Amino acid sequence: MLTATTVYQSLAVHAATLAAQHLGELMMDADRASQLVLEFDDLTVDMSRQKLTGETVSLLLQLAEERGLASSISALFAGERINLSEDRSVVHMAQRAAPRVEGAEYQSLAEFADSMRDGAVDDVINIGIGGSDLGPAMVSAALAHHADGPRVHYVSNVDPSHLHDVLLSCDPARTLVIVTSKTFTTAETMRNAALARSWLARHLPDGSGIMAAVTAAPDEARRWGIADDRIFDFDQGVGGRYSLWSAVGLPVMIGIGADGFADLLAGAAAMDDHFRDAPLADNIPVLLGLLRVWNRNLMGLPTHGIMPYDQRLSLVPAWAQQLEMESNGKSVAATGDQLGYDTTPVIWGAAGTGCQHSFFQALHQGTQIVPLDILVPLQASGLHLEGDWHASHSVLVANALAQAEALAMGSPNEDEPHRHFAGDRPSTLITWDETTPFAVGRLLALYEHVTVVSGFLWGVNSFDQWGVELGKVMAKQVEAVLDGREEPSGLSPTAAALLARLRQSD
Ligand code: F6P
Repeated sequence: MLTATTVYQSLAVHAATLAAQHLGELMMDADRASQLVLEFDDLTVDMSRQKLTGETVSLLLQLAEERGLASSISALFAGERINLSEDRSVVHMAQRAAPRVEGAEYQSLAEFADSMRDGAVDDVINIGIGGSDLGPAMVSAALAHHADGPRVHYVSNVDPSHLHDVLLSCDPARTLVIVTSKTFTTAETMRNAALARSWLARHLPDGSGIMAAVTAAPDEARRWGIADDRIFDFDQGVGGRYSLWSAVGLPVMIGIGADGFADLLAGAAAMDDHFRDAPLADNIPVLLGLLRVWNRNLMGLPTHGIMPYDQRLSLVPAWAQQLEMESNGKSVAATGDQLGYDTTPVIWGAAGTGCQHSFFQALHQGTQIVPLDILVPLQASGLHLEGDWHASHSVLVANALAQAEALAMGSPNEDEPHRHFAGDRPSTLITWDETTPFAVGRLLALYEHVTVVSGFLWGVNSFDQWGVELGKVMAKQVEAVLDGREEPSGLSPTAAALLARLRQSD
């Protein structure tokens, strides 16, 4: 267990000492950059505004050693069955490795994507939820400036207005509907898929609607009625929230083309190589994973903000929320033992600079300290109109840096307390040159590995998600009561009263 390591007590004592030191003071140390600014090609991860010193890093590396982090990483890459509760290995990294990209499955996926890009359709609708939606939707938005294919829409919510409003803008004869579901049983997805199928049938009675399926359960898709040559499968060992690299990325591939998608995979593969091969002391995902644990357990900070200063990356916080919170939101160890310490922080965030004019008030002067990742590309990309667009991008970068500095350094004003900025608020500034498919792949793989590293340190299984099951079971029970098929036994009196009211109003 994390807190049973011998170094944990030293870390706790060290954290108490650092708590009394202001970040502004720590940042005046000229050696800080050499210890806390990490570089990987054009990707720079600047941890100098975190409440850390060189001593903290060495203690955290001792923690990594005591927790057997290096052998956990080796076991992950070796394909050992580390997802204990589901008895599976974890193979999402293989989705972006050369053997897959050069293989037949990938080629047929790319051929299908090409065939949909050559004028066959104007719109693509991906129906999926959770990992079958958040990852590809986020990447399509991130790489909107590389999109040169049909329009791509994502529908996830069982709220009928979501699909309804997308369908209003689509021509059924020129729309591809992709049903993306690892299990092909998820209630919301199957309900929306049925609605889309009946929309196609109503408008195209000859059955000429175009539907495809992306799934790890091809038999289910076949039974549901998708033609064999339109079913694209992927391995059970690819977890939903780690799946955007697999066939789940099909809508992205249709939007930006197979070459762009291959660049996305190459960026992720470059980060995989770094994560697998770099010594722990120079390993960016390892150090950021240790930082998650430092902030959560030693600094006692319950949330973590991700603020992309890149409008096209505005869906990254929602994607990372599922990634980290579904992976590491656990109270028991992978072995089933109770943990007795905190695990994932609440992950949240929004794109800058908009967020500066809303909740940043609380980040600068509120009572909760929120460690941030501030993400910003140094160069603008995909700006083709005439005008001084690049100057605006410089303003964006300036704002990202200014926020990091202001949060850390503060600005004392004892005379006017409402204008007093205490500072001492940590952030990591993550920069890269331009938001290309390669850079996006690399950044996302970094977040995946940070999640896995912190999961290993906490001792949880970052690859299962039993916590979502009870809600699914109860939703079915409540639906049955609403339909009048079941009595509300086992539900609370207030729930039963609401259901009675709803049934009366039918
Ligand atoms: O309910 C949670 C979950 O299982 C996620 O883990 C997953 O990404 C999502 O639902 C969608 O599942 P599926 O791809 O099987 O439809």
